[in-house]
Amino acid sequence: MRIAMIGGGYVGLVSGACFAEFGTEVTVVEADAAKLAALRDGRMPIYEPGLDKLVEANVAAGRLSFTGDLPAAVAGADAVFIAVGTPTRRGDGHADLTYVYAAAEQVARALTGYAVIVTKSTVPVGTGRRIAEIVQGVRPELEFDVASNPEFLREGAAIADFMRPDRVVIGAATDRARETMRQLYRPLYLIEAPIVFTDIETAELVKYAANAFLAMKITFINEMADLCERVGADVHDVARGIGLDGRIGRKFLHPGPGFGGSCFPKDTLALVRIAQDHGAATRLVETTAAVNEARKAGMAQRVVSACGGSVRGKTIAVFGLTFKPETDDMRDAPSLPIVARLIEDGATIRAYDPAGMEAAAPLLPAAVQYCTGALDAAQGADALVVLTEWNEFRALAPGRLAEAMRGRVIVDLRNIYEPTIMRGAGFQYSSIGRR
Ligand code: UDX
Repeated sequence: MRIAMIGGGYVGLVSGACFAEFGTEVTVVEADAAKLAALRDGRMPIYEPGLDKLVEANVAAGRLSFTGDLPAAVAGADAVFIAVGTPTRRGDGHADLTYVYAAAEQVARALTGYAVIVTKSTVPVGTGRRIAEIVQGVRPELEFDVASNPEFLREGAAIADFMRPDRVVIGAATDRARETMRQLYRPLYLIEAPIVFTDIETAELVKYAANAFLAMKITFINEMADLCERVGADVHDVARGIGLDGRIGRKFLHPGPGFGGSCFPKDTLALVRIAQDHGAATRLVETTAAVNEARKAGMAQRVVSACGGSVRGKTIAVFGLTFKPETDDMRDAPSLPIVARLIEDGATIRAYDPAGMEAAAPLLPAAVQYCTGALDAAQGADALVVLTEWNEFRALAPGRLAEAMRGRVIVDLRNIYEPTIMRGAGFQYSSIGRR
């Protein structure tokens, strides 16, 4: 089997490298010259644990290559995956499909025989059909199928998510397309990963439904955490107490400053728009998106309150900037509105993130001071705010923190520290929903 992966971004690169590891010959097409040069050099444009080694091994084995030449990569391929970006369109919250449709057109021109054109990018319901129309319009004589194969990769765990998935979802309309897809995922049959075959529209919707459900789950536990604070309960025990019920499940019940990242904020909004376009209501999802945005914007107030009502003239250490650990991704990170507001209110910010500072700098106010490590950030700080739960922050001894800081306020928006230990060490410690 030979496939072309259009787009060497997060999804395309991880999926391409993993398919190559499965034994398929993969050519990743990247249009951005600088990114392409980096990939050919073995430098990863994104931070994903294990990806560099996986790419290196498969390039060396001759199964994985990178090119800017789309027609050459597509000619003769058994399947062509479209893994280009689908950002939120300005103004209306719809997913912007410009890149997807442009790729479909180019692929149509370049194909030399039967192939399955597969969408990996998260695309609104109906996109597969539209792609089929585009390809037919360009090449009426061409034999092809369209399939939808959404990704469920978590940043930081993407390779494991691809290699040992909870499930694979494949939307296809013909046996020939299903057979090609089955071949590509053959190694997963050995580990008995469930493969859900369905029609194209359903597969497209599964992706949005999964992300919206997870986003709701997080938002639900965030609301419970706020309630815990009012009634004197502990949200970790609430999460455990409900999560052990198999119908609810224990995962994704960790309270925090609100979800961010490249998927949940964008996909919840897009799902709301899809529903509206079809005259349906998704009020739970709509509310989830609104509650989460308000939460992220409101988090700075917790810091202000913990600092006695004002942060003016105070130095605040910020641990973590990325939307979650093990990534350098700053997209929709809670740190963006929180840090901006604290600076607006007159605080000096000393920030440290193990991977995200380069990506953060253009997005945050210029006044932010970037530090060389967690203890460096804590140096002389009146207060400390934990925004991302990187392991290296968990490992810090409270005594070292106390030595470095001037003040004693800690606002732990990820609940990485034990309240009793931190209070015992003399800190004025606040968490999300814990006693
Ligand atoms: C997500 C989905 O998990 C993945 O399946 C999808 O295809 C892409 O989007 P990702 O955005 O990489 O992956 O990160 P994820 O680990 O899901 O976290 C998303 C956000 O939710 C982060 O901001 C995280 O901090 C937050 N979160 C997650 C919580 O606040 N609490 C939780 O319990 C879990």
